[in-house]
Amino acid sequence: MMVFSRFERFWHWSQAALIITMMVTGFEVNGAYEWLGYERAAQWHRFAAWFLIGLWVFVLFWHAITGEWKQYIPTRRGIMAVVQYYTTGILDASVPHPYRKTRMAKHNPLQRLAYLAFNVLISPVIWISGLLYMFYNDWVRTGLEGPVTLGDVALVHTAAAFAMLVFFVGHVYLAAFAGKPFYAYLKAMLTGYDLLYVDPNDPHAPGRRPPDRCG
Ligand code: HEM
Repeated sequence: MMVFSRFERFWHWSQAALIITMMVTGFEVNGAYEWLGYERAAQWHRFAAWFLIGLWVFVLFWHAITGEWKQYIPTRRGIMAVVQYYTTGILDASVPHPYRKTRMAKHNPLQRLAYLAFNVLISPVIWISGLLYMFYNDWVRTGLEGPVTLGDVALVHTAAAFAMLVFFVGHVYLAAFAGKPFYAYLKAMLTGYDLLYVDPNDPHAPGRRPPDRCG
């Protein structure tokens, strides 16, 4: 069944490409290695930042109008079964994933927590500190310079960049190893199709008659 619409796949893969670009250029600016050279890395970093911000504006709008934001509301129901699967079951090919994905709840409880942290913590911190960094020259006019220094902003931005790196590594690891077969999640995010559990209470489930509006 179709789980990830064309827009979601476009958004997911373009965000992935932009975040990789931001990490590669950002850590070069930070001095972790030399590849493009400081000036070019900083230029690409700023350039890609605008695309990332533009994409996020679209994505926020899409989540708000489709109601898909509800998929990120955290829940503790079934969380321990998923923790157990990620710690031991993942290594045993005969143990199935304990979570039954439905159209209205495609993320398991741990995914919900991880994506929520990404959306409400890591991303906003990286955006705000990145914009403050970018518009440093305007601080003097706004009177911000003084209580906050460029060093503070750089520290917060770099800390958020490391949090992004940790999220990215965990995400890629689980995308590759939590699925059975190992390519299942990658295939779903490329094609949009995945196996779904049909929730008997979901009036929008495929094959179900639309609810009778006249009661
Ligand atoms: C995945 C997202 C991002 C990552 C991983 C990331 C990472 C980094 C890192 C590690 C640095 C070096 C910090 C230092 O050593 O002082 C940096 C610098 C910077 N970042 Fe980001 N960043 C991201 C997103 C953004 C965004 C969204 C913006 C703007 C809105 C932004 C604007 C900047 C600016 C202006 C600099 C300073 C570049 C310079 O020295 O000219 N970053 N970033």
